[in-house]
Amino acid sequence: MDGFKFPEGFVLGVSSAATQIEGGDIRTNWHDWAKTPGHIKDGSGPDVANMHWDKWKEDDTLMAKMGIKHARIGFEWARIEPAPGEFSEEGMQHYIDELEFMKKKGIEPLLTLHHFSNPSWFEEMGAFEKYENVQYFMEYAQYVVEHVKDYVRYFITINEPNVYAYNGYFGVGFPPGKNDIKLYFEVLSNLADAHIQCYKMIHKILPDAKVSAAVHMAAFQPLDSRNPIHLGLVKFGEHSFQTAICNAMALGKLMAPLKKRPNIQRGEYCDFWGMNYYSRQTVSDTAGGVDQDCRVNDLGWEIYPEGIVVCARKLYKILKRDIWITENGTCDTTDKWRSRYIYDHLRVILGSDLPIKRYYHWCFLDNWEWLEGESARFGLVHVNYETQKRRTKQSGKFYSELIKNNGCTQEMYDKYVAGQEYKKQDQ
Ligand code: BGC
Repeated sequence: MDGFKFPEGFVLGVSSAATQIEGGDIRTNWHDWAKTPGHIKDGSGPDVANMHWDKWKEDDTLMAKMGIKHARIGFEWARIEPAPGEFSEEGMQHYIDELEFMKKKGIEPLLTLHHFSNPSWFEEMGAFEKYENVQYFMEYAQYVVEHVKDYVRYFITINEPNVYAYNGYFGVGFPPGKNDIKLYFEVLSNLADAHIQCYKMIHKILPDAKVSAAVHMAAFQPLDSRNPIHLGLVKFGEHSFQTAICNAMALGKLMAPLKKRPNIQRGEYCDFWGMNYYSRQTVSDTAGGVDQDCRVNDLGWEIYPEGIVVCARKLYKILKRDIWITENGTCDTTDKWRSRYIYDHLRVILGSDLPIKRYYHWCFLDNWEWLEGESARFGLVHVNYETQKRRTKQSGKFYSELIKNNGCTQEMYDKYVAGQEYKKQDQ
């Protein structure tokens, strides 16, 4: 039997981030960063992307046509607060108009307040490297929540604080392009504090809101399970990349080497766990890697569906809350096996005993993939960047049918999944 049914109330949605879809020549850390040749693989910047800033009606209409009723979305901070303390009513209104439209179309938003991008003015003052800067983010976040309170019930405070800090401060090439482990932990500590402040602020304005951060969880394994160095690196990697930050954000529990901050105090600061899961890290040095002979996507990331539950279990152990997969998806340029990827991850989720209640696929449209630019395609819908035409992929049709049928029928499996195979690392 290859079909399955979703349990009652299980939610399937899609995920996106403002900088990756909107386009427009504005001043964010990423717009600035992309202007330096060599920073982005294909030389593209976020100024084109999907032109969603202009095409939002078309995109949301397509989403509704595909039967998608849940969307994780984000706003661009620099559009709402172009200079410190100067809020743009016009910028805010644009997003409210979109929320209003989504409501009419029956699409329920899950709103992310911070997803990797800062206004340039915030970046120039040192962004989250300095604790005193967190107040600027809080002013912005409060402004947004006060304006959207009639439309939004579900919030993600900060997307992947661990990836933001690691990729920006550990030599991976995100802005500001630093490599300094001390700063990495400073930034992480400040983000944990910001999350807790945000959690409290949202609940003050909207007592019934559901709030979490979205943490990036990777399944770690040693390359050689008898090698003590590999084993030690797995422990270090897990702790410094995910365990310490998750404990700080969800429980206000301070674990070294995170630093003391005024708001990291014992309590409970997640109404659910927002978890982003993509891959497994096979560790033999601090850079991570992939297992031998494993199945990989077009960026060389291991495809390891079982890891989604391995990671969810780790979060559940920290705090017993429902788990929402706020991102899961893959770079499959020609859409040859994305349906299988979705199918396999959902099967693992449904086979587990954990309360995994929602799955937001990353992502709806092919979009501007940070360091990879336009070259990496993760979407259910194909975007031609020259003409800006959208075309629903086979995986998009599969996803749509999963929603309509509240599961996967045998016919759907035969049509979309059965013939699909992943490629191996060396293929
Ligand atoms: C990020 C997304 C990104 C995706 C695929 C996640 O780390 O939140 O913005 O596009 O991974 O790389």
